[in-house]
Amino acid sequence: MKILNFGSLNIDYVYSVEHFVRAGETISSDSLNLFCGGKGLNQSVAFSKAGADTYHAGSIGKEGAMLTDMLKSAGVRTDFVTVRDDISCGHAIIQVNSHGENCILLYGGANHTISNDMVDGVLAGFGAGDMMMLQNEINNLPYIVEQAKKKGIIIALNPSPFNDKIKELDLSLIDWIILNETEGQEITGKEKADDIIAALNSSYPEIKIVLTLGKHGALYAYKNERASHGIFNVPVVDTTAAGDTFTGYFFAEIMGGSSPAKALKIASAASAVAVSRKGAAPSIPTKDEVEALLAKFGEA
Ligand code: RIB
Repeated sequence: MKILNFGSLNIDYVYSVEHFVRAGETISSDSLNLFCGGKGLNQSVAFSKAGADTYHAGSIGKEGAMLTDMLKSAGVRTDFVTVRDDISCGHAIIQVNSHGENCILLYGGANHTISNDMVDGVLAGFGAGDMMMLQNEINNLPYIVEQAKKKGIIIALNPSPFNDKIKELDLSLIDWIILNETEGQEITGKEKADDIIAALNSSYPEIKIVLTLGKHGALYAYKNERASHGIFNVPVVDTTAAGDTFTGYFFAEIMGGSSPAKALKIASAASAVAVSRKGAAPSIPTKDEVEALLAKFGEA
């Protein structure tokens, strides 16, 4: 069983600021760091560090060698990453404030050059029983979903960042959805966690749902099955990629045969380690580091 993550690869320009810049305001940053990022790349790194056999598919510009190097060093297969010479890499301008919160401005670049031919070529290497992870930072999602479904690939969607492109997707083709409350509200029109889950359950009865609730933890729901886990309280340095870390660790556990309850626990521990460090991909912990945190909290 292989994991195919068809997703974005970004160079993250991370600026440390006292507060986020406001409309009409000019501020100085305390520091600038370049990190490997993109929700796709981050989730691939998390999948692989969690022990899954992970393949990343996507597009970068010529200046993106640091991105494929990062994937390779985390054990991710990069055979399906295309290098283009006609467009630059996707990038993100990220402000991180003194509370470790972030705000992110994206430029899609090469992430938005995914053609039908490329999709067909990538999917030729995968089949029934494999799993495909998607986020919303690349183009052509509807075609990718339709073709993967025809091949019997298990499809997991993280509809992040949410925009109208998600509304073009036929969510009845998706097996798993992992989303936060804001995304849940956009999709269902409901505000409370229970109402979001009830609405998704009723519109898409076959979809398995993971709803992340920030400092209130995360919930799993499928038909009448439920599981939940709280967060592990650690000092927050930078929340960038905490959600991506959670996603990769959660699905690596599920595809490895763990119960949703155990997968939520491991994923919560992994994202706690990630928020205690700077950067996106570099903040994603190894499995040993996740186990050390679990032991510290008496949950090993
Ligand atoms: O989820 C964090 C990621 O969002 C960053 O690495 C940035 O590149 C954006 O894609």
